[in-house]
Order: sequence, then C-alpha cells, then structure tokens
Amino acid sequence: MPEPPFYAAVEARRTVRDFLPDPVPQEVLDRCLDAARLAPSSSNLQPWEFVIIRDPRVRQAANAACLDQLPAKTAPVLIALVTHRDTWRRNRDEILRVFASRGPLRPSQVSYYRRIIPVIYTAGPFGVLGPLKRAFSRITSLFKPTPNLMAREDVRIMAHKSTALAAATFMLALRAEGFDSCPMEGFDPWRAKALLGLPRGAEVNMFLAVGKRSEKGVWWDRVLMPRDWMIREI
Ligand SMILES: Cc1cc2nc3c(=O)[nH]c(=O)nc-3n(C[C@H](O)[C@H](O)[C@H](O)COP(=O)(O)O)c2cc1C
Repeated sequence: MPEPPFYAAVEARRTVRDFLPDPVPQEVLDRCLDAARLAPSSSNLQPWEFVIIRDPRVRQAANAACLDQLPAKTAPVLIALVTHRDTWRRNRDEILRVFASRGPLRPSQVSYYRRIIPVIYTAGPFGVLGPLKRAFSRITSLFKPTPNLMAREDVRIMAHKSTALAAATFMLALRAEGFDSCPMEGFDPWRAKALLGLPRGAEVNMFLAVGKRSEKGVWWDRVLMPRDWMIREI
C-alpha cells in the first residue's frame, strides 16, 4: 500500500534554526492556523491562542525575550503560542451555544459542560479548593477508579498539554505546505508575559518561529531513541 502523504510531512518536519527572509503567504499561514484549531483538546476547551507578532517594536522585544535565539531573529514570522487556563467558562459557554444553535441540547451535553466541567475546573478563591479536591480524588481512588478533580496546577498542566497538541498540528501543517518552524521553549517567561500583556491565568506555552529553511537551517542529523525504549506492549 502506498504511504499516505501525511507521513512525508511528518518525516520532513525538522526544527529549523535559520530562515530565508521570504515571507509566508497569509493564506498559507491561515490554513495552518485553521488546521491547528482542529487539534484535540481536553473536553474540547481549546485553551490556546496564537499571537502573531507583527509590530516591529514588539517583535524586537520578543526576539530578546527569546534570548535572541537565531530562529527568532531570522524567521519572517514569530508567533507566541499562549495557554489560557481561565478561558474554560467562556469556551464551555461557546460549545453549548453552538450545540444549541444546531438543535436541542442533549442531556449528556448539559450535564457534562454545566455540572462536571465546573467541578473539575473550579479551584475556589486563591485555589483553596484545589488541594481538597485532589486529596478527595486520591482517597476515593483507593477504592474505585476516580478522575483527578484538579487543583490549579493540574488545570495548568492540562491546558499546556492541549496547547502543545495545537503546536504540533500547526508545525506539521506548515511542513505539508512546504514551510518550516522552530518551537522555542528557551525564552524568558516573565518578560514574554508582560510584553504580550497576558492576564494572570495565561502564559506563553512556546514561541514558534515560522518561515522557509535556509541551506543551513537544519543544524544536526536526526537522532531517534531506540524504538523499544519508546514503545512497549504489556
Ligand atoms: C517544547 C519544545 C521546546 C523547544 N525549544 C527549543 C528552543 O528553545 N530552541 C531551539 O533551538 N529548539 C528548541 N526545540 C527544538 C528541539 O530541540 C528539537 O525538536 C529536537 O532537537 C528534535 O529535532 P527535530 O525537531 O528537528 O526533529 C524545542 C522543541 C520542543 C518540542
């Protein structure tokens, strides 16, 4: 059977650290961003935001926040991918609004989004409920399978997991379009947050440098861990 073209994009995606100055056409960027919007997310709450940095002064400060890494300095497009852990109420309401606009809401939809989600996500004032909820889940788990009724830090992890999946989808879409990217975790999180004017419940998940690779864009050969370290069956 011929390999579906998806695998060619997966194979060809590399972290690119030196970009050509060629611009990324807006329609390409839009298609990749729209592909990223289809990424799976916890309870479909899509806790991310792609902030495309266009303002030259913000861009300069963002490059500096990225520790002046070469990909940030050379990429024609720099994106801050933001994780929001406090947008769940707004996004939950939007999900229910869209469902309702398509027909009567199902009881399972109402109960999941109106009852279960708030129990999982609410941490109370100053997060005081979080440790109690987590302790309750831990104890109940001794007797029966129990989900983690999350503390604030758990919600943060959940939001970062989902956001990273959007990043992966975006980078693969770029490669399928013949463009490249560099995900960057090497940045100053406090400066980045201040620069973007992010609210308390938000933080930069990663920066994404985007463009076309130069001849010296890929620095090192690909190294993969042995397959049996990474995959096992039990
Ligand atoms: C979450 C994350 C953060 C990363 N941060 C940086 C970074 O700050 N600077 C950089 O040059 N590469 C960064 N990388 C790229 C990795 O070094 C790269 O993905 C890895 O070496 C594998 O190479 P490949 O992507 O070409 O397969 C990051 C990758 C990920 C997934």
